[in-house]
Amino acid sequence: MQAFDLIIRNANVVTAADGFLCDIGVRDGRIVALGLGLQGAAQEVDARGRTVTPGGIDSHVHLDQPTGDGSVMADDFESGTRSAACGGTTTVIPFACQQKGQSLRAAVEDYHRRADGRALIDYAFHLIVTDPTEDVLRRELPELIAEGYTSFKIYMTYDALKLNDREILETLSVARAEGAMVMLHAENSDCIAWLTERLLAAGHSAPRYHATSRPMLVEREATHRAIALAELVDVPILIVHVSGRQAIEQIRWAQSHGLKVYGETCPQYLFLTADSLGCDDSFEGAKCICSPPPRDAGNQQVVWNGLQNGSFEVFSSDHAPFRYGGPDGKRAHGETAPFSEVANGIPGVETRMALLWSEGVRKGRITPQAFVALTATNAARLYGLYPRKGSIAIGSDADLVIWDEDLDIELTNEMLHHNVDYTPYEGMRLTAWPAMTFARGERVWDGSPLGEPGRGEFLPCARPEPAKARRRESELPE
Ligand code: URP
Ligand code: ZN
Ligand code: ZN
Repeated sequence: MQAFDLIIRNANVVTAADGFLCDIGVRDGRIVALGLGLQGAAQEVDARGRTVTPGGIDSHVHLDQPTGDGSVMADDFESGTRSAACGGTTTVIPFACQQKGQSLRAAVEDYHRRADGRALIDYAFHLIVTDPTEDVLRRELPELIAEGYTSFKIYMTYDALKLNDREILETLSVARAEGAMVMLHAENSDCIAWLTERLLAAGHSAPRYHATSRPMLVEREATHRAIALAELVDVPILIVHVSGRQAIEQIRWAQSHGLKVYGETCPQYLFLTADSLGCDDSFEGAKCICSPPPRDAGNQQVVWNGLQNGSFEVFSSDHAPFRYGGPDGKRAHGETAPFSEVANGIPGVETRMALLWSEGVRKGRITPQAFVALTATNAARLYGLYPRKGSIAIGSDADLVIWDEDLDIELTNEMLHHNVDYTPYEGMRLTAWPAMTFARGERVWDGSPLGEPGRGEFLPCARPEPAKARRRESELPE
């Protein structure tokens, strides 16, 4: 019997901490040796000195998630995870969203049915808590956290999803008691509703007014409030899809006061602006409707600064796949539908890694190590998947990307494998793309998508690392 199933030779390995040249020995889907001159494998791949990073962990994706408004997500677990693998992501964490009135357990079972036998790469689930009844808070949530659903999202906006401050406090308290990680969608719902009504009354209904209806201050206020509520309860939180300066300032303030407040940002806040929603009243801008909306060039720079200086822990896609053509995506309410009725969200699971490598690492904005931390390692730590996922180390899953780095290609939707009919990043130049992606040692991308649906496994998550460090019971907030 051979010592290894696979050796990847001459790999310029990059982790969140290091960079070194070595061979990677893989057996039974795990990394079992890192060294020079490894011998004895059923299969060998010569990386020829190219960069090899851990496979990406996209810790914010929406797959096959019912919306309840007539729109339908274009990607299920098969197309979404195939697309992820082709772009160098080997683990996704989508959401199991509770409908109001539904038990959390029923939501989780529903999402397992959607994923079972379909995923090409490994996946975990975040919960979305929309109805924190006594039974949910006292029984279901603690039980599910103990079973490996150790993170959940809370919305401060969207009528069908949002919690009020009292409900947020109750839910955060459960996270504190049980050691879970809470993700917050921070936008002030009433401000958005008030602005939306006034815009529509004035006849301003085109997609571009989506950005006007959700200015930075509604995100800043909600981010501030989320931080204050978490401080009161004394629990770590992560603010998701942060779009610009004012929200980042709130996160920095919290971090500088020793609060465990983490930030996530996404490609749309680096590469899109409010102008991407259109400069006239055409419906085309619907392609870039997402919340919070993209801002402007100044805010893009502040988001880059936040990636450089550690304000952000994770860089996720927030892949929310709606088709532009056809009756059930962005046009579910017709092409003349007001912005407030257009499905929120944009695709990005396949382009996240290459965009950040091309624009971040290749342009000298971030180091290769920071890239690995932001796209894989930190998510693994925050969501209880480390060290199985998120690193290149003995014992870790052999989730690996060999990079092609000297490219100059134009990004087009035809290159991609999602089930969406557009990419918001059409026409951007890319200087890098994964040459090969390995998931638990199996090649799932080498220029063509490989791997069978159903090979991806569900990953129960441990309690996140930050949840272990909390204030003592006796200490009260100032
Ligand atoms: O517009 C967005 N971000 N859609 C996806 C749902 C969410 O809030 O993350
Ligand atoms: Zn959100
Ligand atoms: Zn999202």
